[in-house]
Formats: sequence, C-alpha cells, structure tokens
Amino acid sequence: MSAESRMSMPLGEAIFSQRAIRRLKPDPIPESDLRDILEAATRAPSGGNSQPWHFVVVRDAGLREQFGPLYREAWWAKRRDSGFLTPEDLPPEYKQAAKLADIIAEAPVLVLLCATAKGPGPTGSVIPAAQNLLLAARALGIGGTITTLHPVVEERVHALFRIPDAAHIVYCLPLGYPQGRFGPAQRKPLSEVCSWDHWGNAFG
Ligand SMILES: Cc1cc2nc3c(=O)[nH]c(=O)nc-3n(C[C@H](O)[C@H](O)[C@H](O)COP(=O)(O)O)c2cc1C
Repeated sequence: MSAESRMSMPLGEAIFSQRAIRRLKPDPIPESDLRDILEAATRAPSGGNSQPWHFVVVRDAGLREQFGPLYREAWWAKRRDSGFLTPEDLPPEYKQAAKLADIIAEAPVLVLLCATAKGPGPTGSVIPAAQNLLLAARALGIGGTITTLHPVVEERVHALFRIPDAAHIVYCLPLGYPQGRFGPAQRKPLSEVCSWDHWGNAFG
C-alpha cells in the first residue's frame, strides 16, 4: 500500500489532534512506517525546491543512549541562557519538556532533521518538512515533538552521528507510540493573532 493511501486519516483530524507527544512507548516503529513518514516529510516545500534537508533516523539503542546525556545538557544549557538554573526555577510550562530531557533516549526513534548548509535560507527551507513529518506520523498513530539542541553540544552530536561540519542540525524529533493521547492543542483565539487587512483591525 502506498504511503498516501496509508495516511487516510482526514486532514482536519490530523491537524487538530496533532500536539507535542513527549511520553513515548519504547515499542519499535516498523521501518515501512518510518519510510512513509519520511516520504511525507520530503513532500514539504523548500526555497526553489532546493530540498536542503538530510534526515538522520536514529534507531540504534547504543547511539540513543549516548545522545541522551548530550540532549539533557543542551536542554539545560538553553534554560540557563534564560536564567533557569534548577528544576525548582522552571515555570510549569517547562515541566514536560524537562522530563523529556531526562528520557529522550527511550524514544525508539530520533530523527535529526538537518540542513545541508548553515544559515537562515537552508534552515527556513527544512522547517516545513518537520510539520509534514509530524502530521504523517500522527496519521499512523505515532507521536513526537520538535526539539532543538544548543551550540554547547553541537560538535559532540555531529561527531556521534557523523554529521558533516557544513551541515546544521535544525531539529531533533523523538518519535514513538504515545503513552498518552493526541490533541486537542491549546492555542490563542484567532481574535488575538489575526487582523483583517491592517495589523490591529479586529478579527471579530
Ligand atoms: C522551534 C521549536 C522548538 C521546540 N523545542 C522544544 C524542546 O526543546 N523541547 C520540547 O519538549 N518541546 C519543544 N518544542 C515543542 C513545543 O513546546 C510545543 O510544540 C508547544 O508547547 C505546543 O505544544 P502542543 O502542540 O502540545 O500544544 C518546540 C517546538 C518548536 C516549534
């Protein structure tokens, strides 16, 4: 069966139930599902159809184990940059992400979504692929979330996964079957984030 026909969930259901899934079962994801998800990810648009993406799909348990402490270090480096030094300092909205920082290696798959060159152009061109990837995963009952790293671990993560110096890791997406449930996501109402014609014209 083609990837397209396997993802027959209504688009509205996929979009409106897609949310960050951070608690993942350790069960492996079939390779055919991963291939379908990556086919969907690579259908995303990119500037001039340059497709400056490379997906490192990490299944190997030993590599994930080595990555875990690096991810945790990166996550806390980002928090330190924002002035949060200990778990007690964290505002409630960071609690789930903090937990993920402790357990990311347990996700059966980590996708390192890389741009093949550094800079805002290539980086911007790979971002739509991340949302395609997550929506395709959602359609197959697989959860995940977007995460970022921190320059403090960049060299070591590149070395671990043999990522060339010229490339740049844009996102790390842990994937797996959810322990909890999908959606709905909490979002601001359109009246707060949209205007008709001119910024500030009420979107009533
Ligand atoms: C650019 C970007 C960076 C993110 N970084 C992290 C991260 O480092 N760790 C994490 O757990 N979630 C991260 N997220 C996920 C967001 O926290 C999540 O999408 C947001 O809180 C909305 O959650 P929801 O979709 O479950 O409603 C990131 C999302 C984006 C778009």
